[in-house]
Formats: sequence, C-alpha cells, structure tokens
Amino acid sequence: MRAAYYENTGPAREVLRVGELETPEPGPGEVRVRIRASGVNPSDVKSRRGGPGRVMAFPLIVPHSDGAGEIDKLGEGVEGGRLGERVWTWNAQFGRALGTAAEYVVLPEAQAVGLPEGTGFDIGACLGIPLLTAYRGVTLEGPAAGQTLLIAGGAGAVGHYAIQIAKRQGATVLTTVSSAEKAAHAEAAGADHVIDYKREDVAERVREITDGRGVDRVLEVDFAGNAALAPQVLAHRGTVVVYGSNEPEVTLPFLPYLYNDIAIRFYIVYRLDEAVRRACEAALHELLESGNLLHAIAARYPLAETVAAQEAVESGQVMGNVVVEIA
Ligand SMILES: NC(=O)c1ccc[n+]([C@@H]2O[C@H](COP(=O)([O-])OP(=O)(O)OC[C@H]3O[C@@H](n4cnc5c(N)ncnc54)[C@H](OP(=O)(O)O)[C@@H]3O)[C@@H](O)[C@H]2O)c1
Repeated sequence: MRAAYYENTGPAREVLRVGELETPEPGPGEVRVRIRASGVNPSDVKSRRGGPGRVMAFPLIVPHSDGAGEIDKLGEGVEGGRLGERVWTWNAQFGRALGTAAEYVVLPEAQAVGLPEGTGFDIGACLGIPLLTAYRGVTLEGPAAGQTLLIAGGAGAVGHYAIQIAKRQGATVLTTVSSAEKAAHAEAAGADHVIDYKREDVAERVREITDGRGVDRVLEVDFAGNAALAPQVLAHRGTVVVYGSNEPEVTLPFLPYLYNDIAIRFYIVYRLDEAVRRACEAALHELLESGNLLHAIAARYPLAETVAAQEAVESGQVMGNVVVEIA
C-alpha cells in the first residue's frame, strides 16, 4: 500500500517519506479500513517533530490518528455486517505505530465508528480529535446551558467547533481571536462576543460584557500563555478547562487562583474512559445528523504531499482542519 511514514523524528521535509509499505491484515477483533481521508492535527506534527518526551516509540510510524473510509476486511470474530461500512477512526496512531496516512489501516473494531449518513469522509477525518475535543471540553463540567464560557482561540479547529456546541447547549459564548478574519470565522460559528486578544484588554472586555461578574468557565487552548488571565476573567469558583498549552511549563499566579477558588481541569481526548467515549460518540453523531454544524476544512492535500499538509498545520496559519485525501 502507499503510505506516508517516518523512521526518525525531525523536520517534515527531512524525515517524512511517501512510499510502499506492506498492506496490513486484520487480526482477531480487528477491521481493516480503506482510508479515503486522513486528518492532520497538531499532535501528529509534534510527534513527528520530536523533542522532550516525544521519542520514536516504534521503528517506523505512519502518522495521523484521525481518518475515515470504508471497512474492506474483517478479522476473526467481527460481525459480517460491518464489511463495507463507512467509518471514522480514533487513536489510530496513539500508542500504535500505524496511523491513517496510508491507503489502509488496521484497528480494533471499536476504533472504527460508523459514519453518520450524509457525512463525508473529509468531515469524518475531523471527528476523532477536533470535534471530540470540543465536545468533551464544553461538557466536561456538565452541560453548558445557562453558563457563560470564554473559549480561547475561537478560530482554531477545536475552538470553532466548541463555539457551536456551547451555543447549541444554550451558553453565552465569548471567544478570543487574533485577527479580523478570525473574528469573522468565530462570529459565523455563533460566538456572542469576539475579543481580539492581540489588540484588546481581554480582562477588561470580559468584565464589561459580564457586568463585572466574570465567566463561569474558560476553555483554554494555551494555558502557558493565558494562565495569568484566567483568574481575571473567571467568576468566583469558576473553572478553567485546559486542553492545550503552547509551552511545556506553566507558571501560575497563586493568590489570584486561591482567593477566587479557581478549579483547573485538564483533559486528554486520547484517553477517555470507554463509557464516556461511547456517550461522546453518540453526541457527536447527533450533532452531525442535525445537519447544520459548520465545518472548516482549511486545506486538502493528496497523500504524496503529506509533508506540505504537516507543514501547513505546523505553520499555525491555517484556519481550520487540514485533510490528506487518499484516492
Ligand atoms: N487535550 C487534548 O486532548 C487535545 C486535543 C486536541 C488538540 N489539543 C491541543 O490543542 C491545541 C489546539 O489544537 P487545534 O487543532 O485547535 O489547533 P489550531 O487549529 O491551530 O487552533 C489553535 C488556535 O488557538 C489560537 N491561539 C494560539 N495561542 C493563543 C492564545 N495565547 N490565546 C488565544 N488563542 C490562541 C490560534 O490562533 P492565533 O495564534 O492566531 O491566536 C488558533 O486559532 C494544540 O496545542 C493541540 O495539540 C489537545
């Protein structure tokens, strides 16, 4: 099969190759998926780049955890009706060597989830990380109905979905962006208030919008960058729900967190308990079936240009998801 792969970490252009690998065969309880679209996420890029805590866990890695396609072969014990099913994948390259940047991937059957009718493979390749992270982040502290949320980075792949989910649940949504173009993108997703964090005083704007009370929750994309801001924008006993950080170390102002009884909740979407994952999958499918969820596929590349696809994500310049399409 054709696949993108690397045998050492480093810059995409130096280590990523596209070539022939042996087509994998499904073992007991596994399915083989003929991949049509492979989603590229920041974590895929960070793993390939390497660095502290990111070493090669396998001699050869096919990148990307998210993907979508059709089941073309079943392992022993998998119910026959799954043959030909359209599916999306999760954690294909999390703790495993062979991800979705290939014509085929073999996975335990639970990691290939039926794709709702009418949902394209390109969108299917954005579910396992961006949409699921957004849903989990918005709902981790309970339904968002009646809550006021500050979603940091509302034009990001996760942030853009998070705005839509929070609005559907009945929250008031404030969000931060860094340009007029990103502001329009976040507004189109339904944000009630958009704040340009590069040009405006975020704490002042949040106090003004919330009549001095602050927001109930912050959904944080860059904890290192915004740790000092959280106690300034949160209401007393508010929570900062953290899924990302631009730096590996975070410094916190202790007293503002202490005096405001601020709670911090970290979460990682790759390690959900099974019951939580099943509930999230059902919620995602309901969102997709509602039909009017906005998706933001910023760029598409053929498999042969996986290097360019990874570089696009790495640049931080794309507004939305990057997908590798596999003909
Ligand atoms: N915990 C998990 O399970 C999990 C799951 C998915 C993703 N992540 C992590 O979450 C991060 C975002 O992922 P993504 O796919 O949404 O990436 P993305 O599409 O690149 O979006 C990131 C967004 O955050 C904005 N941003 C960056 N620094 C900011 C800051 N200090 N304040 C406000 N906004 C800021 C960026 O725009 P500007 O730079 O223009 O502001 C961009 O719009 C990545 O670090 C990723 O590894 C974690």
